[in-house]
Amino acid sequence: MQRVTRSAIIDAPIDRVWAILRDFNSHTAWHPVVAESGIEGDEPSDRVGCVRNFTLRDGARIREQLIALSDRDHRMTYCILDADVPLERYVATVQLKPVTDGNRTFWHWQSTFRTPRGRERELSEMVGVGVYEGGFAGLRQYLARGRAGAGLGDARGAPIESDAIAFERTGGPEVLRPVRVVANAPGPGEVRIRHAAIGINYVDVYIRRGWMPLAAPGDVLGVEASGVVLDVGPDVTNVIPGDRVAYALLPCGSYCGVRTVPAAQVARIPDGIDNETAAAVFLKGLTAEYLLHRIHRVVPGEVVLVHAAAGGLGTLAAGWARSLGATVIGTVSTDEKARTARDHGCHHVVVTREYNFADAVLRASGGRGADLIVDGLGERGVRDNLASLALFGHWVSVGQASGALPPLASDALVHRSATFSQPVIFHYTADPARLAEMAGRLWQAVQSGVVRPEIGGRFELGSAAEAHRLLESRASRGALLLVP
Ligand SMILES: NC(=O)c1ccc[n+]([C@@H]2O[C@H](COP(=O)([O-])OP(=O)(O)OC[C@H]3O[C@@H](n4cnc5c(N)ncnc54)[C@H](OP(=O)(O)O)[C@@H]3O)[C@@H](O)[C@H]2O)c1
Repeated sequence: MQRVTRSAIIDAPIDRVWAILRDFNSHTAWHPVVAESGIEGDEPSDRVGCVRNFTLRDGARIREQLIALSDRDHRMTYCILDADVPLERYVATVQLKPVTDGNRTFWHWQSTFRTPRGRERELSEMVGVGVYEGGFAGLRQYLARGRAGAGLGDARGAPIESDAIAFERTGGPEVLRPVRVVANAPGPGEVRIRHAAIGINYVDVYIRRGWMPLAAPGDVLGVEASGVVLDVGPDVTNVIPGDRVAYALLPCGSYCGVRTVPAAQVARIPDGIDNETAAAVFLKGLTAEYLLHRIHRVVPGEVVLVHAAAGGLGTLAAGWARSLGATVIGTVSTDEKARTARDHGCHHVVVTREYNFADAVLRASGGRGADLIVDGLGERGVRDNLASLALFGHWVSVGQASGALPPLASDALVHRSATFSQPVIFHYTADPARLAEMAGRLWQAVQSGVVRPEIGGRFELGSAAEAHRLLESRASRGALLLVP
């Protein structure tokens, strides 16, 4: 057996280095010899057992499996499953230790493997120099790019003003008003972000109308954005200036140019996913993630009914549910939207403007009904949702585009021994560890094509009212963005 060992000091705190390395698919961002990489299946990229399938710049393909990961010990072990390079029984361990001053990291990387006779030296050199020493240099460069990337110059530490959109009173799109806001320099645990794109969500409409007390007149709207980290406050270890990040969080305030938010609530955007795509999928894709993987774990053969299947959430949920083996039925209001819904994974589409879909759902599912209903319709869909439920079906009410859901009778679900849930994305994303897992799975779904982001329109920040009108008119498809 060959043994290769290398180590290096990295000029960054251990939590920062570990946050990068523990993501088994992060090497595309920092390793100079890695050209492309993806995690197989639908696995988060920090889950033990996940497999990364990557191509080196010289064209060689390698599949490696993560076989152990300890956040406590900052250690991970992985092995090669198969490769174009003749490294047999290759097992490698990465181990980090804090250097005594606390701000730097000792990185130890070692492996054992077998090689064909006569190629021991060549292949040990390739691993030790090309992979390990190249990796140390690549990560140093990546971190330095981040430190230089923010370009704040003299503005470091100073408040930054930007344009924003507030609602001056509750009402229609006409109540939206341009205002100026100040993003203070980040305090402990905070990051300041220059927004690149802002996701518009139906919840923004509910809040603007006064249907949900999540913001008060005068407040800036918006719960989602992507952009570049300008600076970070003390104790922030998960991102550095220059990182591209996305977030979905309360309180409202994302309809603006620059914003300071808690670092624990942001997720780094992987290379290969641009900022607009990230803003189009983050909140809605995380919602699809919890709907299909958490609140109801979809299994092959189930029937999933997705309302507004050509919309922001609908397109993502439909495609994802199909990839999990479900039969997907979508409802939409026009034939044009039906085409979009089919393109995004619906096996059957019911075109109805009047919320009459139960008969069609029962027909399409051979009388079974829906095991999961993803319902953003609210009031007008109640009758047909109840009639569409499969035995033990799960009706998940996520929104109320047609009006507030009336109280349900206590015996409303007994005819199908069914379940009703009313989840909220922000409860799922509140815990940083769960958010990281959800975001990892979402990025993976985007990169592997399981969900296909659809940007239905881009609007300047000052045209937010126009974007709201379009969303409420039922004419939009996919996700709408504001570009500051
Ligand atoms: N609880 C959560 O965690 C969570 C998270 C994300 C989203 N949501 C909810 O999911 C739903 C979809 O959100 P989204 O942001 O992706 O919006 P969207 O689906 O892009 O737009 C809303 C769609 O709802 C349909 N709709 C039906 N009746 C309507 C009416 N009377 N007025 C307006 N639209 C109507 C329309 O599609 P058709 O014309 O094709 O019917 C419309 O395009 C919303 O209810 C939202 O609140 C909930």
